[in-house]
Amino acid sequence: MNKYGDNQTQGEFWNDAPGLAWVEQDVEMNARLEAIAQILFGVLGHNPTQHILDVGCGGGDTTMQALQYCSSLGSATGLDISEPLLQLARAKVRGQANLHFINADAQSYALPEKHYQFIISRFGVMFFADPVKAFANLRSALTEDGTLAFVCWGPLADNAFFTDPIGAVEPHVEATFTDPGREPGPLGLSDIGYLKQVLQGAGFNNVTIDPVRTQVVTGYTPEQEADLLMRIGFGMRLMKQAPPPPEVRERIRESLIDTVSRRLEAGKITYPALVYLVQAKVG
Ligand SMILES: C[S@@+](CC[C@H](N)C(=O)[O-])C[C@H]1O[C@@H](n2cnc3c(N)ncnc32)[C@H](O)[C@@H]1O
Repeated sequence: MNKYGDNQTQGEFWNDAPGLAWVEQDVEMNARLEAIAQILFGVLGHNPTQHILDVGCGGGDTTMQALQYCSSLGSATGLDISEPLLQLARAKVRGQANLHFINADAQSYALPEKHYQFIISRFGVMFFADPVKAFANLRSALTEDGTLAFVCWGPLADNAFFTDPIGAVEPHVEATFTDPGREPGPLGLSDIGYLKQVLQGAGFNNVTIDPVRTQVVTGYTPEQEADLLMRIGFGMRLMKQAPPPPEVRERIRESLIDTVSRRLEAGKITYPALVYLVQAKVG
C-alpha cells in the first residue's frame, strides 16, 4: 500500500506546499468558513450525541466544535491525510481527553465498525480517488441510526472564490483552465446527480442534498487576499501547471488585487457562494 493509502496524489498534495499554506492560513480560513460551519452544525441538533468523526478535519477547529455536541462519555475524532495540518490540530488540544486525531486516508483506513453516531465534514470529502469506496468505508463506521452530514462546494459558476482567481490568473499563464469535472478536488462532488449516485452507491439511504446560498467573507485587504490566492485554489493550480517568471507573477498579483478589490465593501471582501448541505442515513 502507498504511504497515503488509496489517495497517494492527494496525500502528497496536502502534505506539501498547499497543506502548509492551509496551516499558515488556518485562523483566516476558519474565520471565513465559520458561517458555513454553522450551516453544518445545524444538523446536529440540541441533544448531546456520543461519538463524532470529522473527516478531512484539517487544522481541527471543526473537530473541537463537534466536541461540544458530545456527551461527557462521548468523543470527537478528527481524521486527515495531512500530517502538518494534524500537527496544528493536536497543538490546539488543551487537556480534552475525548478529543482525538488520526492521520490516515479516509478511503482505506480501517475505522471502528458501527461506532460513530455522526460523521461530519466541512469541505473534506471531495478528494477521494474512489468516492463510492470511501463513503462505503465511512458508512461502515456509523451506528445503525447514524448520520453522515457534510458541506461541499456547489458548481464552479456559483462560487466566486474559485472563478475570480481563474479569471485573474489565466490570461497571464501558458495554461488554460479546464473544468475538473468529477476529479478529486474542491468541485469533485459539485454535480448534484452524481453526488446522490455516489452516496446511494455507497449504501446510504434517505440522501438529502440542500443547495444553500451563502457568502465567503474576509477582512483581508486586497493585497493580503491576492497573496493568499497565489498559494491556494484554482489560480495557484494554473500557476503550478505553467510556472510564470517573477515579473509575470507580479502582474498576476496585481490582477488579483484588482479583481478582489471589486468585491470590497465596508472593509470586507465578500464572495457569493453556493454550498450543498448533504445528509444521509445508514438505515
Ligand atoms: C479544503 S480542506 C478542509 C479542511 C477543514 N475541514 C476545514 O474546513 O478547515 C480539505 C482537507 O481534506 C483533507 N483530505 C483530503 N483527502 C483526504 C483523504 N483521502 N483522507 C483524509 N483527509 C483528506 C486534506 O488534508 C485537508 O485537510
